[in-house]
Amino acid sequence: MTIQSKMIVDKDFKLAEVDPRVYGSFIEHLGRAVYGGIYDPEHPTADENGFRGDTLQAVRAAGVPIIRYPGGNFVSGYNWEDGVGPKADRKRSLELAWWTTETNQIGTNEFADWAKLAGSEVMMAVNLGTRGIDAARNLVEYCNHPSGSYWSDLRISHGYKEPHAFKTWCLGNEMDGPWQIGAKTAVEYGRLANETAKAMRWVDPSLELVACGSSGSSMSTFAEWEATVLDLSYDNVDFLSLHQYYNNHEDDTPNFLARSLDLDQFISSVAAVCDYIKAKKKSKKKIYLSLDEWNVWKTQGTSRADQLWQVAPPEFEDEYNMEDALVVGCCLITLLKHADRVKMACIAQLINVIAPIMTENGGPLWLQTTYYPYMHASLYGRGTVLHPLITSPVYDSKDFTDVPYLEAVSVYNEELGEVTVFAVNRHLTEGMEFTLDLRSFKNVSVLQHTVLEHEDIHASNTRSNPGNVLPHNRGNAAAGEGSVTALLPKASWNVIRLKVNS
Ligand code: AHR
Repeated sequence: MTIQSKMIVDKDFKLAEVDPRVYGSFIEHLGRAVYGGIYDPEHPTADENGFRGDTLQAVRAAGVPIIRYPGGNFVSGYNWEDGVGPKADRKRSLELAWWTTETNQIGTNEFADWAKLAGSEVMMAVNLGTRGIDAARNLVEYCNHPSGSYWSDLRISHGYKEPHAFKTWCLGNEMDGPWQIGAKTAVEYGRLANETAKAMRWVDPSLELVACGSSGSSMSTFAEWEATVLDLSYDNVDFLSLHQYYNNHEDDTPNFLARSLDLDQFISSVAAVCDYIKAKKKSKKKIYLSLDEWNVWKTQGTSRADQLWQVAPPEFEDEYNMEDALVVGCCLITLLKHADRVKMACIAQLINVIAPIMTENGGPLWLQTTYYPYMHASLYGRGTVLHPLITSPVYDSKDFTDVPYLEAVSVYNEELGEVTVFAVNRHLTEGMEFTLDLRSFKNVSVLQHTVLEHEDIHASNTRSNPGNVLPHNRGNAAAGEGSVTALLPKASWNVIRLKVNS
């Protein structure tokens, strides 16, 4: 048995250009993300700076345009000055977000070096938990001011003559969360974000600034927080952040696969709040969205007693399976459907901590199931999103009604003359006969139909079995007159790349 679905795309129905920064990621001083993940001086592939070559290679292969750093909850207790200057002089600090010892062997300059090797921009975050305007503006001066001032000259004395020119900055992290060091009320944070933004921009007017939205849509202060923060900072910030993680703790796969509908609703709601404040202020300025933490997150943290004050203990090392890859795929499609509003997004995180890339200290690297949809979207989802008109059978689940079995979107890359379709078949037992109506495109041919599927929806890649779930190019997409047909296997992620002539 198969089910039928259809999508119509037209080159004239442009939704928005994809900002490549929606394929961003995140590295926090947490678990083995930094120490063990990017920095492992004893590793056979390490360079003279101690950076693992295999990790860099995997990050480069995914084309990660921007990486948020250094946190996360970590940033809310971080003294950035502890992480610059001669390594031998750097303090070991008690790190209160994750109750570990921070050696400070990697700091701002080392991360800038690493990001350059990875081919990524840095999205810096400043500490608005224990610190404020002064530390933030000094950090901007240290990183971005050319020379001739105390902090810029200090950077030069540390061996970095050229400024890092970091453009995108987060004004704190999850400041609404009671777990945050220095958590604030919306009024306290909105005022601080506004004043910090002003001072940072007075140092470097070219900055793009992201204010903290809620830590998730389930926060009791959600929406009210966004409205208050923006009311107090509207003219001085450019983006509002969203954070959202999903899991399948209830072991209900159809419901889990529908979670991207929640993300869709979350994005629309935050956009509505931004526009409410825009209307209230009679402003012409539009606030864009930065979904700067999103992913599937399954594990609970290890208990504090087990790891108290260790250096880089393993933490949140989720093993992702086939259904997790489908949820990540559905979330990526959802982001693209909001390409007119979501201009930045960071899959959280990148290496070893709830991550698509896993490493063993001193040992091998392997790629999780979730790496593949993320890499495919990043590599092929560049261009213009076309409004998708979809017809699909639907189902109801515990938390959702009318969940379409087909989740899909297409991106038109005019320069290359290519259309790429990303599609998930949510059906767990039936293949889907998919018809793509490409009425405005001529001479359509199929370049590649890549599929990620597995008989066992719980199958994953592990250190001992890293090739268990791999994409293949044996999808059967076939071009006809202005259309393409394909079988989307049950519970599969599909990338159909087409050569077109408009
Ligand atoms: O990504 C892990 C943590 O999740 C981050 O530190 C925090 O911002 C969020 O709660």
